[in-house]
Amino acid sequence: MTDTLTIPTTAARPGATTVQVFVPDTETAATIRQALGSLGVADAEFVSGNAVSATERLSRQPSPRLLIVDVSGLDNPADAIDALAEVCEPNTGVIVVGDRNDIVLYRELKQAGVFEYFFKPVVGTLVTRACSAVLTGNLEAQAPARTGKVVFVLGVRGGVGATTIAVNTAWYLAEARQRWVMLVDLDMQGGDAALQLDVSPSHALREALEHPERVDKLFLERAAIHIDHRIDLLASLESIADPVDVQEAAFRSLLDKLLNRYRFIFIDLPPTVAALLLPALQMPSTCVLVSNASLACARDMARWREWIGPNTPDRSTVHVLNQHGAPGSLPDAEFARAAGRPADIVIPYDKEISTANMLGIKGAQQSMALKRGLAPLLRHLSGEQVAPSRPLLRRLFG
Ligand SMILES: Nc1ncnc2c1ncn2[C@@H]1O[C@H](COP(=O)(O)OP(=O)(O)O)[C@@H](O)[C@H]1O
Ligand SMILES: [Mg+2]
Repeated sequence: MTDTLTIPTTAARPGATTVQVFVPDTETAATIRQALGSLGVADAEFVSGNAVSATERLSRQPSPRLLIVDVSGLDNPADAIDALAEVCEPNTGVIVVGDRNDIVLYRELKQAGVFEYFFKPVVGTLVTRACSAVLTGNLEAQAPARTGKVVFVLGVRGGVGATTIAVNTAWYLAEARQRWVMLVDLDMQGGDAALQLDVSPSHALREALEHPERVDKLFLERAAIHIDHRIDLLASLESIADPVDVQEAAFRSLLDKLLNRYRFIFIDLPPTVAALLLPALQMPSTCVLVSNASLACARDMARWREWIGPNTPDRSTVHVLNQHGAPGSLPDAEFARAAGRPADIVIPYDKEISTANMLGIKGAQQSMALKRGLAPLLRHLSGEQVAPSRPLLRRLFG
C-alpha cells in the first residue's frame, strides 16, 4: 500500500526537480515511474543515462531531492559514485541500481551514504518504499549521514590575508570544481567577506548564533546570501558598540545543520573569535592557519599550533604563510625557528593581489598571482594529490 506524499517544501534548491532518474533501460524506468506515480510525484525527470551522465548533468544543475542512478556495466561503480558525490548536494538522497548482486559493492555504496542499492530487475514495492523514505526525509535509520567538510581559515593576526584566502578558495571550489560551498564570516564587525564578494551582509548570522533554536532548513534558505550558483554566504555586519556574544554550542549547532547541506563549509575566523570557539577547532576539519612572515605572526603560529595539537586522521592543520617577502618579513630560516617549523604553503606578497582584491571577487579571480598562490591549498582541500581510492569513499560522502 502506498500513500501520496507530502513532500517538504524545502526539498530542493530553486529550479531543481524533486526527482531525477538516470537509467538506460525502459524496463527499469517503467518500474521506477510506476513507484513514483504511486507516491504522487508529478515532476520526476527521466533521462536515458547512468551515474556518469548524472555526474555530468549535476555539475551544471541544482541537485534533486531524490536521485536514482544506474551503474550497470561500469567497470568501477564505486568510483563512479565517488565522482557523483563530489558534485551532488550532500542532502540529496541517492538510490543506485545496477546489474551486480554483490555484497561488497552494496556495503561500499551504503558506506558512501547511498540510501539503497537494488540490482535488476528491480522490485516495484522495494523501490516505492525507498523513494518514499527519501522523499519524506525518513533517512536517518537507514543511511549514514552524508556530511560536508569543515575548513577553518584562521588568520593568526588581522591583515594577513585570511579573508582573501577563504573567499577565493571557496569561490574556486564552487565555480570551477562545482562543489556546494557555504562561507561563514565570523568577523561580524568587519563584514569583509561580503565586501570581497560584492554583496551586502544582513543580520542573519547574528540571529543564528543568538537564537540557535530558530535555525532550520527554512531559516538557512532565507538567511544565506546566494552569491552564485553553488556558493552561499552567512554573514552579518554589526555595530562596533554591539558585539555578538558567540557561544561555542550555538556555533556547533549551526555547523551541524550546514554539514547536511554543503560539501564544504568555510569558516573565516578572526583570532579573537577563534579564542571563544577553541573546542570546535578540534572537530573533524581542516584548519588553515594563515600568517604573514613577521616575527609576531611566527610566535602566534607556534602558539596556535601548540594549542591545536598534532594532526589526527580526522583533523589536520595547514600553515599558509601569506604575503611572503613583504616589507618586515623575517628570513625563512628565522621564521621557521620562531614558528617552530616551516610553513606548509607559501604565497608571495604581490601587489597584483591587493589591487585585484579591490575589484571584488571577479577581479580577484583574474589575478594569476593569487591563482598560483592558492593552487597548492586547493589541491590539498579537494584531495587532488591523492588518487581517490576505496577507503576514501566514506570521506567523500560522509
Ligand atoms: N599575498 C598577498 N600579497 C599582497 N597583498 C595581499 C596578499 N594577500 C592578501 N593581501 C591583501 O592584504 C589585505 C588584507 O587582507 P584580508 O584578506 O582582509 O586579511 P585578514 O582577513 O587576514 O584581515 C587586503 O588588502 C588584501 O588584498
Ligand atoms: Mg578578515
